[in-house]
Amino acid sequence: MEQSRIAADDLELPSEPVGKEVRRIAKKVFIKTFGCQMNVYDSERMTGTLVPHGFTQTDSPIEADLVILNTCHIREKAAEKVYSELGRIRQLREARRRMGADSVIAVAGCVAQAEGEEIIRRAPAVDIVVGPQSYHLLPSLLERRAKGEKGIVEIEFPAAEKFEAAAARQPRVGPSAFLTVQEGCDKFCTFCVVPYTRGAEYSRPASEIMEEAQSLVERGAREITLLGQNVNAYRGAAPKRGHWDLARLLYAVADIKGLQRLRYTTSHPKDMSDALIEAHRDLPKLMPYLHLPFQAGSDRILKAMNRRHTKEDYLRIIERLREAKPDIALSTDIIVGFPGETEEDFEETMRLVDRVHFAQAYSFKYSARPGTPAADFATQIPSEIKAERLERLQALLRTQQIAFNKAMIGRSLTILWEASGKNPGQVTGRSPYLQAVHAEGRAELIGTISAAEIVGAGQNSLHGVIKNRESIAIYQEV
Ligand code: 5AD
Ligand code: SF4
Repeated sequence: MEQSRIAADDLELPSEPVGKEVRRIAKKVFIKTFGCQMNVYDSERMTGTLVPHGFTQTDSPIEADLVILNTCHIREKAAEKVYSELGRIRQLREARRRMGADSVIAVAGCVAQAEGEEIIRRAPAVDIVVGPQSYHLLPSLLERRAKGEKGIVEIEFPAAEKFEAAAARQPRVGPSAFLTVQEGCDKFCTFCVVPYTRGAEYSRPASEIMEEAQSLVERGAREITLLGQNVNAYRGAAPKRGHWDLARLLYAVADIKGLQRLRYTTSHPKDMSDALIEAHRDLPKLMPYLHLPFQAGSDRILKAMNRRHTKEDYLRIIERLREAKPDIALSTDIIVGFPGETEEDFEETMRLVDRVHFAQAYSFKYSARPGTPAADFATQIPSEIKAERLERLQALLRTQQIAFNKAMIGRSLTILWEASGKNPGQVTGRSPYLQAVHAEGRAELIGTISAAEIVGAGQNSLHGVIKNRESIAIYQEV
């Protein structure tokens, strides 16, 4: 769960007399973001849409005139969290009302898309339910609410319009920025809600993406991560004629002067084309890191999941990636306890992990999502078995992650410094392999790349010592 923020100047709306005093009204929005990076990106877009309408962002829901929960529907736990959060937000609104202030509660994101009216039924305090395709409509939905309309639900699907509306008003960006190039998914894995909540695959035109990437770099981004639920299925209109695939797009974005690092996520094994693998060999700006979910190690389960790849296909891709980029760090998603998974099937997952050696991984107990085919499979696995398998898998993944991090000790890594650290005089950033790195350093380093010698490593981060800044030249001015 993350929360996005923007830096925007305080906007002042026309002042309003209160008795003899003059009160300035600047409306505040609080956005809580659940789930994936697509949602973090969308939260920034929503803020971008609201700023011209007099909103500034706040970290405190009690002072917010508008509270938005940007939600995730991928697993049941994620969806249920939204309802408990709504209970808290409703109480805050009541407290605000006692102080004479009103607030609007909006639910956005995939729970909004999937559950629509049902949200208003379960949580009548919600004023607006808005799906990911309709964020550009937020100001008009707020107007409708201001006119007294209740229980507004807007979950239609015109994808291109949303991007156009959002592109023009982007907030200032940090050193590492996200850029959505593709949305939705046509793969229909039998466990997954994304094809239903985010709809059919849609790729933005390449020229629009290039413009946005250029603008991100001009506004301070040094690293761009191209985002999509199925990013390597990208196939967008080319600037002149025909289409560009993701590899072509990466070459074009990598050409932007001032951009130093490039990443993309999330990919599907089926769409790992030769050209994309070659891009890892040929593009120095493309970071040596790939998130490539495999979900399960047993071909029988992969088939039941409708993954359209086998264990061998996956291993072959990894082998070719490692030929192209020997130091590439790999990350993945794995589900345990999919309906029908036997102990032997699970062991195959463990063996696959053993063979690949992941730098990082996300692993989940299977969660039956209403409306997906697997939810109706008769062979659901008891939750104690799922829990026990997850524990074993996570122990193995932990060992691999720690080993990967410890292998960095004594090495010099180039770090993009992104923010101040927890303590004064510290900075934090990311290695090429996406590891978080902490070091003693001045805030002026933020937004630059410099070498750090790695002197410590834990499961989730590295500790570095910044050396002299000559090494910056490695990535600068490419
Ligand atoms: N149950 C458990 N995990 C799931 N994921 C998606 N749907 C489910 C589900 N129903 C996991 C997959 C996916 C990641 C984003 O979430 O591993 O890659
Ligand atoms: Fe869901 Fe990914 Fe499968 Fe698409 S490819 S259905 S997003 S798990």
